[in-house]
This record gives sequence, structure tokens and C-alpha cells, in this order.
Amino acid sequence: MISIKTDEEVELMRQSARLAAEVLVMIEPYVKPGVTTQKLNDICHDYIVSHGAYPSPLNYRGFPKSICSSVNDEICHGIPSDRKLRNGDIVNLDITTYMNGFHGDTSRTFFVGSPRKRAKKLVDVCRESLQRGIDKVRPGARLGDIGAAIQEFVEGSGFTVVREFCGHGIGRNFHEEPQVLHFGHPGKGIELQKNMIFTIEPMVNEGKADLRILGDKWTAVTLDGSLSAQFEHTLCVTDDGYEVLTRLNGLTPF
Ligand code: MF3
Ligand code: CO
Ligand code: CO
Repeated sequence: MISIKTDEEVELMRQSARLAAEVLVMIEPYVKPGVTTQKLNDICHDYIVSHGAYPSPLNYRGFPKSICSSVNDEICHGIPSDRKLRNGDIVNLDITTYMNGFHGDTSRTFFVGSPRKRAKKLVDVCRESLQRGIDKVRPGARLGDIGAAIQEFVEGSGFTVVREFCGHGIGRNFHEEPQVLHFGHPGKGIELQKNMIFTIEPMVNEGKADLRILGDKWTAVTLDGSLSAQFEHTLCVTDDGYEVLTRLNGLTPF
């Protein structure tokens, strides 16, 4: 069952999603060579808790930390650790907040120090693919329109789309129906309706799309060791389009 939110629920979700977006703005200056992903986790955790919210990943299905941090060939669900970030790394920080009884979910891939040329291209394509998916969102459009737009742009740019993970409905639960695939066919899939709220979160690989899960049972990495990037927004279908609930105008750079 896909839940359609009431206007009151949309307003509560706006607040939770805004906090998640604020965390990504707040953390940016700390993403520098030498910082550990555990330190980034702790700063985000404290910020979320001090704003009256809970970091949704913590203890979610046994996940041990408050954010996900995925470095270089890590696709998603990386676990913060004493790993120090190095100049030229890319790192995705995925923030999910639980506030007022609702979750908000957003992620961004950061450059650590100066990006290599290939990493810059990959991250730019991933960010743009998310926007191309978002641009399809309006009542009457279908989920396949979103997936197809992302897939076409990513593959046309010479990169690949990860298939094992997808966007998702979100609300009182972290992950709700529907699944929002980042590949597909225009005109296929369920029809979007006003006040549906879901994430779009394409994972884009430099090399092949295949992945494996590390022994920690969480971290997904590219099978061929190539780089992977991801961006994520939570959005609401409006009368004539969309509202990105995790975008702070003038502050969020994606
Ligand atoms: N935030 C991720 C998503 O976008 C899910 C993380 S699950 C966790 O759906 F357990 F790893 F936190
Ligand atoms: Co998500
Ligand atoms: Co997320």
C-alpha cells in the first residue's frame, strides 16, 4: 500500500526533511583530508539529537552508526570508522532524521580536497541524473519515467546505474512502498499522485554496475573496484510538479 500523505503530514515531513538537509550543509566544512568518518558521524549525531530528532540509521536493522559514509568504491551503507579521508577521495554521507514521527532522507557525495578529473565527471553525472529524475515528477507521470530518465543520462555519459538498491516511499517508516528504481521504461510503473512522498537516490558507478557486500554485512562496494557516487533527495508530488523537501534554497548545492 502506498500512503498518500495529508497536507498536515506533508508539513511535518517538511520539518524532518529540512533538518536532514541542514545536516549536509553543516557537515561540509568538516569533510577535509585527515578527518575520520567516525568523527563526521559523531558531529552529525550530535547535531541531529540537539535539534530534537533521532538519527534513523542508528540500530535500524542492526546498523551500528548514525549516518552512512561511503568512500570511493563503496556504493552505499558504508559504516563510519577510524578510516581517515585522504586528498582526492570521494565520500557520500547519507543522512536520515526522525522527527515529529516522520523520516527525512538525503545524501550527497563530497570531494575530499581536490577531485581527480574522472571523479569530478562521475559525481557531476550522478548529481545531474538525480535532477533529471526529479524533473519527471508530477501527478500522472509514472515511476518508469523517472528511472528511464536517470538510466538514459547515466549510460549516455558512459557510466552505469546500480540495480540492487532503489529509492523508496518514506514517511512514518524509513522505507515504504513504492520502490523507485533508477532504471526502467517511460510510461511503465505506478502513476504518481499528489502528496505521495518518496526518495530518488541514484548510485552511479564509473565501471561495471555489479556489486558485492563486505563481511560487515552492510557495505556495498563495486565488484570491479571502480568509483561510485550517489545523491539523494526526499520529494513530494504537488498539484503540478514536485517539492524537494530536502533542498534548502540557496544553501543546498544539488
Ligand atoms: N539512508 C539509506 C537510504 O537512502 C538507508 C540506510 S539503511 C542503514 O535508504 F541502515 F544503513 F542506515
Ligand atoms: Co533513501
Ligand atoms: Co538515504
